[in-house]
Amino acid sequence: MAIKFGRPLEARNRFTQVETEAATDAAARLDLPSRPRRNRRAEWARRLVRETVLSTDDLIWPLFLTDAQGRTPVKSMPGVERLSVDEAVRAAERAAKLSIPCIALFPHTDPARRDADGSEALNPENLVCRALRAIKKEVPEIGLLCDVALDPFTSHGHDGLVRDGIILNDETVAVLVKQAMLQAEMGCDIIAPSDMMDGRVGAIRNALDRANMIDVQIMAYSAKYASAFYGPFRDAIGSNATLTGDKRTYQMDPANADEALREVELDIAEGADMIMVKPGLPYLDILHTIKTTFGMPTFAYQVSGEYSMIAAAAQNGWIDGEKVMMESLIAFKRAGADGVLTYFAPQVAEKLNRQSA
Ligand code: PBG
Repeated sequence: MAIKFGRPLEARNRFTQVETEAATDAAARLDLPSRPRRNRRAEWARRLVRETVLSTDDLIWPLFLTDAQGRTPVKSMPGVERLSVDEAVRAAERAAKLSIPCIALFPHTDPARRDADGSEALNPENLVCRALRAIKKEVPEIGLLCDVALDPFTSHGHDGLVRDGIILNDETVAVLVKQAMLQAEMGCDIIAPSDMMDGRVGAIRNALDRANMIDVQIMAYSAKYASAFYGPFRDAIGSNATLTGDKRTYQMDPANADEALREVELDIAEGADMIMVKPGLPYLDILHTIKTTFGMPTFAYQVSGEYSMIAAAAQNGWIDGEKVMMESLIAFKRAGADGVLTYFAPQVAEKLNRQSA
C-alpha cells in the first residue's frame, strides 16, 4: 500500500521554470560583482551546479516480518505493514524491479516465543531464517541485511541478556555470534549488529572467518544513540509492550559526538566493512564527521520516528509528503552518506525511476 501524501500544493506551477530578471530600474540596480541567483534561474542551470544526487543505489529498504497471513498495518507507521514470508518475497521482487540494491529484515516475533534469553533468535525456523531462505531462492540478485540483537526475541525487550537488572556484555556477545552465524548460513549477505555491546564486531568477524564465511559483510551500527525516535519500530516488532526500563547503558548518549568517533574507530579495527549512524536527520553532524574522518562506506538509518513524523504530517495535509521525503534524503547525501536505510525506499525508488524514464 502506497502512503498518501495529501493533495499537491496548488502553488506548484504558479511560477514559470525560467525566471528572467524583470527590467530593473537603473536607479535601483545594486552594483554586485556576484549574483548567486544566476545559477538558480532555470532548472537546467540548477541541475548543472547540483552537488549531490540521490539514486536508487543509495537505498536500503527495512521490512517487518510476521507469522500472520498477508499484510498487517503498523498503526504508528502510516503506509508500513508487517509482511508474511510470502509477502516479503513479493516485496523483495518489487525492490529488485525498482533497482533497490538491498533489503533489511526485522521480525515481529510471536510473544509466546519470547523468553528471557531470546532463544528464538537461534531457532533455524524463526521468521528471519525462513524469510532469508525464501528470498535468497526467489530473488537471488538482491542484497539481504539482518539486524543482530536480541530485542525481537526477549521477554524484557532488551538487546542482550539481563542479570539482576544489568545488561551483560560478554555473555550477550557469545549469543550474538551464534545469531550472526545462523543468519549467514541462511543466506544473509550483510550482518548488522545493532546491539551496541562492546567487542561484538570483532567476535562476529572472527567466527565468520573461522567458518570460511570470509565474504559475509558487516555493517556496524557504530554510533547508535539511545533515542525516542525508535518508538514506532518497537510497535512494529512488538517490543514496546515488553521493554522494561531503557537502553541507556548500551546505546549512546545523544549529547555525545567524540564518543561516536571512538566507537567507529573500534568497529573498523574489529573488521567492520561499513559504518552506520542512527537515528538519521537529528545526527547529521555525527554522520558528516565520521565520513570525513574515516572515509569508510557510511550509512544513515532514517528511523521509524523520523518516517512517522513525515508520513503523519503528510496524511494530514500539513506538508507535501513527497517533497519532504526527497528533501530529507538529499540531506543525508549532502552530509556524506553513501546510503540510507529508509522506510520510504519503494516510494523514493518509484519517483526516481519515473524521473529517469
Ligand atoms: C534493535 C533495533 C532498533 C532499531 C533497529 N534495530 C530499536 C532499538 O534499538 O530499540 C530502530 C529502527 C527504527 O526505529 O526504525 N536493536
